[in-house]
Order: sequence, then C-alpha cells, then structure tokens
Amino acid sequence: MTARTAKKKTATNKSAAKKKPAIAKRRAATPEDGTKTKLYASLVVQLLSLLKGEHDMIANAANFSALLFNSLPNVNWAGFYFLQGDELVLGPFQGNPACVRIPMGKGVCGVAAQQCETIIVPNVHEFEGHIACDVASNSEIVVPLFDGERIIGVLDLDSPTIGRFDDQDAEGLNELVTVFVAHEEGLGL
Ligand code: SME
Repeated sequence: MTARTAKKKTATNKSAAKKKPAIAKRRAATPEDGTKTKLYASLVVQLLSLLKGEHDMIANAANFSALLFNSLPNVNWAGFYFLQGDELVLGPFQGNPACVRIPMGKGVCGVAAQQCETIIVPNVHEFEGHIACDVASNSEIVVPLFDGERIIGVLDLDSPTIGRFDDQDAEGLNELVTVFVAHEEGLGL
C-alpha cells in the first residue's frame, strides 16, 4: 500500500463544502504555532515507535487514535472510519460512542472521502449535513486515507472549541496518516 497526501479544504459555512479551499492560512485556536509544529514532529516519532514491529492494523489504528486523543489539546473524539463498499464504517477510536455507518457524501466524513480532501470545519453547526455524534463537538477535521489513489477511509477529530483546527493540524495529521498507511502496506485494506 502506498500513501498519498490529501488536498485540503476549509468549510466555513453551510455551502462551503462545495467551495474551493480558503486561500488565507487558518490560525490555531490552541496551541501556538511553534508549539504545534513541535508537537506534530513529536507525534510522528511516537507513532513510529508504536508501530514498530507490529502489523495488526486494528491494534495500530487503536493506538494511533489513543495517541492523538491523549496528546492533542481540546480534542473530544479521535478515530477512524474505513470504507466498506459505499459506506464508511466506524473503526478504532477514542471518545464517546459514535455513529457506525456513514454513506459516501454524507456528513463531514462522507464529503471528505467523496472529494478525497482534508476538510477543516471551524463550526460544525454551520456545515450542512454535519452528523452530530457528540453534542460537545463544535469543530472538526477529517483527513482521508489513501492506498495509492484509492480512498480507504478517514481520520476524524472533533473538538469542543470553535476554530480548533488549522492548516498546521491538516499538515501534521496528513503526515501522520501517511506514516500509518505506509506502515500498513500489504495488509489489503
Ligand atoms: N461528525 C462526523 C460524524 C462522525 S463523529 O464526529 C465521530 C460527520 O459529520 O461525518
């Protein structure tokens, strides 16, 4: 399996899912830029350490979601949906119980998977079709996972903080999922 870095989109209002990505760089709600860069660099090292010598995809996805949930501030849900047919099906995650199946094109996850793009939603209440799994969630980022050019799932993070996720999160999370998918090469996801 080979990894591909997703394009990126910021959804700022109800029709934004169909708009082109915002040109302006989004700034972090927390933490500060330098800190966030160091944090993601540290997470790459920690993820590589967690993956080393282990090739059970479910175990690795579970540890990956736990790493993100416990390391990133102001995150109330972190986990995976994997594509089965034309639906995304819930995978390993940390946080409250969530909806199990999301059709392609539905919710933030389904739109990100269908459009093969990272989507940043500063305010989920302004995203048409957002699927609410946790009433505490106010912002969200969804990062697609690729096997070459084929979408195989998404990484989804929620936050209670409006505007929690920015371009640095998108870049950091894309790097992390690239490391994860490259490690899982050959498992036939
Ligand atoms: N909010 C997502 C659904 C998944 S939960 O956030 C865990 C969506 O709109 O696709």
